[in-house]
Amino acid sequence: MRRKVIAGNWKMYHNPAETKEFFEKFTELVKDTPNEVIICVPYIDVAAALESTAGTNIKIGTQNLNHEEAGALTGDVSCKMLQDIGIKYSIIGHSERRQYHHETDDFINLKIKAAFAHDIVPILCVGESLLEREKGIAKYKICTQIVMDFDGLTAEQAKKVVIAYEPIWAIGTGKTASAEDANEACKWIREEIRSLYGDEVADAIIIQYGGSVKPTNAKELFSMSDIDGGLVGGASLKPEDFAEIVNFERNENI
Ligand code: 13P
Repeated sequence: MRRKVIAGNWKMYHNPAETKEFFEKFTELVKDTPNEVIICVPYIDVAAALESTAGTNIKIGTQNLNHEEAGALTGDVSCKMLQDIGIKYSIIGHSERRQYHHETDDFINLKIKAAFAHDIVPILCVGESLLEREKGIAKYKICTQIVMDFDGLTAEQAKKVVIAYEPIWAIGTGKTASAEDANEACKWIREEIRSLYGDEVADAIIIQYGGSVKPTNAKELFSMSDIDGGLVGGASLKPEDFAEIVNFERNENI
């Protein structure tokens, strides 16, 4: 059976003092979970987050990286810099970066390869817009992203990628995909990976759901056959809420 991987994406929220305050509560609340816990914080919070979580079961990631080692790239942070301070995870290709920073699949593919070259596991986001879902091309959109973003990756690398299926229309809107629809999309992704890399990789790869995951819907979503956890935005900002999501198995109301 695949493990569950539950990741938070803080986006552009929390300063270092708030980061310390968060972990003072959160660390204790999730210390017994069997699930893998990752929190992807803004760059300015990385030092505080690494310090607060040293020796715990919580892993810290970033929300982006630059694929170059170093260079005249104002405002960017390189994969090498992140490796040097011990970062092991980074979100790559979030729809907000695809939309506001015009990141293409070719560029995202470069970042994934650079992440692997620096021992960083990519949390790759894919997902369709509302219009693409309504026009019946969601599967086509998602599978195209997978083919392009995985281009040139070895089976060994492919198996380590954490894929987050995030339908754009469900992000920050309070509209969650139904558990059945989310599971169907995660299956499309797994079958695409199967056709690219075969059974071993397809059966092992972690596929998360993201988009308005809350303490009240996490158990239903994460219990589906092809959903191996979640990528959580808004609800990862409060320690109590995110801990309830991480400890979803304990929710007795569902
Ligand atoms: P919300 O959980 O706030 O909808 O955000 C989802 C997301 O974009 C996580 O990367």
